[in-house]
Amino acid sequence: MTHMTEATTKADDIFDLSLTVQETTQLNATTAVLAFKSELIAPLIKPGQFVNIKVNDTLAPLLRRPLSVHRVEGDIFEVMVKVVGSGTKLLYNALPGSTVQVLGPLGNSFDYARQDYDTAILVSGGVGVAPMTILDDCLRQAGKEIFNYVGGRTASDIIARKLTNLRIATDDGSQGFKGTVVALLEQDFPEFAKKRVRIFSCGPNRMLQALADFSMKKNIPCEVSLESVMGCGIGICYGCPVHVKNEQGEPDGHKLLCQHGPVMDAKQVVFE
Ligand SMILES: Cc1cc2nc3c(=O)[nH]c(=O)nc-3n(C[C@H](O)[C@H](O)[C@H](O)COP(=O)(O)OP(=O)(O)OC[C@H]3O[C@@H](n4cnc5c(N)ncnc54)[C@H](O)[C@@H]3O)c2cc1C
Ligand code: FES
Repeated sequence: MTHMTEATTKADDIFDLSLTVQETTQLNATTAVLAFKSELIAPLIKPGQFVNIKVNDTLAPLLRRPLSVHRVEGDIFEVMVKVVGSGTKLLYNALPGSTVQVLGPLGNSFDYARQDYDTAILVSGGVGVAPMTILDDCLRQAGKEIFNYVGGRTASDIIARKLTNLRIATDDGSQGFKGTVVALLEQDFPEFAKKRVRIFSCGPNRMLQALADFSMKKNIPCEVSLESVMGCGIGICYGCPVHVKNEQGEPDGHKLLCQHGPVMDAKQVVFE
């Protein structure tokens, strides 16, 4: 196994390091967890942040691939990758001992430590479940009550790794509630009506939009972690604009997701 030295580049607590894949765990035919060791990056990571990974040292794929941090333990951090194209396939098949270039930690984080709520409702769909494990760990340490709502098309899509208090929804009813995860939350909502609740979410845009509509109707604060195609990951290439609206709901230009996100207030996002 090759262990490269860590430090290469550092700017404002963002490191660009050649890191060795310590361990890979293939969870199913398309999703795997990769563990990296870095005493520089791991301690800085906050829930919701991501790393931008150059998956190999050739020109294809040229751009780095952004992945949320899934879990941190000491100086080990993990990412969860779902295969959708060539970059994620290379990562899924990466062998322990191989090296990749990792830039991070990047982006903002979930605002979980605030005192104006007691109950955290985490809503995720598909590989959007990835950042929920690190968030769940931090919420537990912060003494919050936690509920995890996880949705997928069918039972084999549900990957709920190390999550507290699970409630599952599948479109085809093969596991848990039959319907969307937002419909399940709506059904359960009377249980939360008297609690001080905050919603944290990550998943497909359609799910996030339905959740944003629901949270606004019920007047519950809701943070959404968005995805977009990215390039640099650090605000230089302008490759990740997200349209936003103001408090009156009027168009208010755009923000760069890699800098002002990936976590945004659901009320601010124009879903496209
Ligand atoms: C902040 C952030 C965090 C992310 N976290 C994770 C994570 O934890 N785990 C994970 O598996 N994926 C995550 N993604 C998505 C992941 O970055 C993309 O799936 C990946 O870049 C695709 O690369 P590829 O080479 O495999 O696919 P490509 O060959 O580049 O594309 C294949 C297909 O996927 C679509 N696609 C590419 N990038 C994205 C994207 N960002 N969002 C939606 N569709 C895309 C393309 O339009 C194309 O249809 C995250 C994205 C962002 C922006
Ligand atoms: S990815 Fe380059 S500006 Fe956001």
